[in-house]
Amino acid sequence: MRIYDLILKKRTGGALSEEEIEHLVAGYTEGSIPDYQMAAFTMAVFFQGLSESETLFLTRAMVNSGQKVNLDHLPGIKVDKHSTGGVGDTTTLVLAPLVAAAGVKVPKLSGRGLGHTGGTLDKLESIPGFNTGLSDTELAEAVNETGAAVAAQGQNLVLADKKLYALRDVTATVDSISLIAASIMAKKLAVGADALVLDVKTGKGAFMKEREEAFELARIMTAIGRGAGRDTAALISRMDQPLGRAVGNALEVKEAVLSLCGEGPADLEELCLVLGGWMVFLGGKAESPDSGGEMLKELIENGAALDKFKALVKKQGGDWKAVDDFSLLPEAEQKIRVAADRDGYIIGLDALKIGTAAVVLGAGRQKKGDHIDLAVGIILEKKIGDLVKAGDCLAVIHARSDSRAELIESVKSTVRSAYKYSNEPASAPYLICGWIDREGDEHRV
Ligand code: URA
Ligand code: CA
Repeated sequence: MRIYDLILKKRTGGALSEEEIEHLVAGYTEGSIPDYQMAAFTMAVFFQGLSESETLFLTRAMVNSGQKVNLDHLPGIKVDKHSTGGVGDTTTLVLAPLVAAAGVKVPKLSGRGLGHTGGTLDKLESIPGFNTGLSDTELAEAVNETGAAVAAQGQNLVLADKKLYALRDVTATVDSISLIAASIMAKKLAVGADALVLDVKTGKGAFMKEREEAFELARIMTAIGRGAGRDTAALISRMDQPLGRAVGNALEVKEAVLSLCGEGPADLEELCLVLGGWMVFLGGKAESPDSGGEMLKELIENGAALDKFKALVKKQGGDWKAVDDFSLLPEAEQKIRVAADRDGYIIGLDALKIGTAAVVLGAGRQKKGDHIDLAVGIILEKKIGDLVKAGDCLAVIHARSDSRAELIESVKSTVRSAYKYSNEPASAPYLICGWIDREGDEHRV
């Protein structure tokens, strides 16, 4: 099999067989196929796309390029979730304990913050002692005992993705829908959950800026899931403004705890109940996603969800007392108000700008391996739809005491510029654009 011929075939719009794709991925992973040939291939894919079966072959070949996490020996239906990433997206912290409280097993492997988006592992590590570095055996044991565990994805999972993603990053081929779908789904399929609920984001703060692209990505990812024998559903939700009010690691942990008590922001609660409703439904504990959501509401009201979070924190070595006593969590020394400079209704709140401002404060990494500050971030006091008067507090910046004055000024001006106003009331913001059910049927709101 000549790699040249495979590149040419894709460049001219042909379809590759499973053996051909397997050969490419295996050869690239072990190093016998050089970067320049793989780069040419990914560019051909960018322009010609992959068919549904080619995308499934690519995903399977990527899964086979590394180790897998086998959870077959765990009793019960295991349900995983994945979000394509956003700003202030605190859903995993809420959903893992909440869905586990409904009796569904949730093994969740998560990542660190990337670009302007936060990462679940960083957030959890703001709880003193919390250990995200579980072995496969420890993960299985924690899920079996507590019902849910959240851990770092091992270094040897989906080896092809590590090389391929780095290559795409420098060859302008990241935003190919087929390649994104295969990259995300390979990492999900390498972990042996029985069912999967995807949250595909669209809008300013998301990978997929356009709604139709988000639906297409959701269609392809759910088709891959079904093709691999996993029960898969996807939600398409808006990420124009940050989710909830808190952006930043410890700040989002506090927001998650409030949500588990029923005192969180309305948008975060809505998304958690819809996504969680699907997880409970696919986990076989509810008749429908709606009744799954109702069940979760009760588990929040009766305290079971919060108890489950404490159990999860304790099992993973964290200081569970911090769940009741926020003074045990990292806290920024400086709190700076950002005031509105005019009257009006808020009609826009740019998630990308807020995410970037949080990174500049030190809540995220500007490059891989950077040290992050778990205490810093931004609390949004006003969001889309709110009426403000000049001088009202829009947001509070949580910064370190040694942050330079110029840095604070620049963050302040970025936060202020993220807000867009109108003299007319804004239409009520909605969150859910639609979903794809377990049969692959599309529903639009
Ligand atoms: N996230 C991933 O994991 N892979 C992609 O290709 C894009 C986003
Ligand atoms: Ca949030």
